Amino acid sequence: MERTFVMVKPDGVQRGLVGEIVARLERRGLRLVAAKFMTVGKALAEEHYGEHKGKPFYAGLVDYIMSGPVLAMVWEGPNAIAAIRQTMGATRPTEAAPGTVRHDFGLEIGRNLTHASDKLETAEREVALWFKPEEQVTWTRDVDRWVFEKA
Ligand code: RTP
Ligand code: MG
Repeated sequence: MERTFVMVKPDGVQRGLVGEIVARLERRGLRLVAAKFMTVGKALAEEHYGEHKGKPFYAGLVDYIMSGPVLAMVWEGPNAIAAIRQTMGATRPTEAAPGTVRHDFGLEIGRNLTHASDKLETAEREVALWFKPEEQVTWTRDVDRWVFEKA
């Protein structure tokens, strides 16, 4: 079972797509572990996107993530990292597959609606950065055995 960090970015919130994006993850069978609706301060924004520091789009990216409230979340499931990246689609919406969030709702890379951790070590770092352990809910669902081969 993997846990991963997912965020509906300010454009997704402003466009009223929170429910749509959460619904897609629920329907996929993933289990919600934590969620908070919040604005992002400069220190958190810079730390979250630290891997991109020095790149030409870094300043714009930090401003983008601070431009309005976001929904920060943790989701879990088998292969949750890869599954959620697939549901979100390629970074550039015009390269995202039809049926993905970024294809279905996006046009530009700088307004690509969501963030999702890209690998295990990133997921561990980001989950810990955004959520305290006590904010993460460990629970089970009656349907788990019909979604997870090993529940
Ligand atoms: P994310 O981290 O947001 O889930 O997106 P990602 O892994 O698909 O893409 P990543 O390479 O980590 O880039 C992070 C975010 O930076 C913005 N970006 N802009 N203008 C550009 O060339 C450019 N490249 C990246 C996007 O908002 C991207 O999601
Ligand atoms: Mg990334």
